[in-house]
Amino acid sequence: MTSNKINPQDNKNCVILASGNGSNALNIINHFLTGKKSNGINIVAVVSNVAAAPVIEKVKKTAPFIPVFAIPFNNLSERDVFESELEKIIKNYGVELIILAGFMKVLSKEFVSKFSHKIINIHPSLLPSFKGKDAIKKAYDYGVKYTGVTIHYVTEEVDSGPIILQEVVKIDEGDTIESLEAKIHNIEHEIYPVALELLANKAYKAG
Ligand code: GAR
Repeated sequence: MTSNKINPQDNKNCVILASGNGSNALNIINHFLTGKKSNGINIVAVVSNVAAAPVIEKVKKTAPFIPVFAIPFNNLSERDVFESELEKIIKNYGVELIILAGFMKVLSKEFVSKFSHKIINIHPSLLPSFKGKDAIKKAYDYGVKYTGVTIHYVTEEVDSGPIILQEVVKIDEGDTIESLEAKIHNIEHEIYPVALELLANKAYKAG
């Protein structure tokens, strides 16, 4: 393993959880790998709940020194196994922060309360509007003029935890669902690393 270049002692060890494409996971990994100064975040593992998720191969290619785990969690009955395996990873790698980046499953209330203020999520709307799946489409179909991106702590109630950072995205007349998705993803890639740096440097405190 050649993780020494991303492993300054004072960095926060983080695991990324992702279910699909992985553009946010890759963006975070690249951001913190190429950071000029020690910017507080050390990605020590990536976990996907979907064995064939593109994120798995992408991380292996981009950052082969980061261990990647695929732990099936496609239905509720697999959740206990997923969470107990994840807890082992958290312990083994000294994980201090759990970063959800396109993780499309709901963690149990027990797991969330055990890791209170240690799980961060990104959601593609201005919460509390358009919670749950397909948030970009819900906002587009509703006809709102502004939507956006929210970074927040994960609490027992889905998409309802304290907000760390938000950014507005304007929906223009000519926008299609595809162009809106592209705008949202661009903003996601801008603000997730910023939010993580705030947390790592203790510049943000919940409540
Ligand atoms: C992102 O838009 C993220 O905000 C959203 O899934 C996408 C994952 O894209 N997350 C949610 O909707 C969570 N409820 P990515 O796999 O390319 O990072």
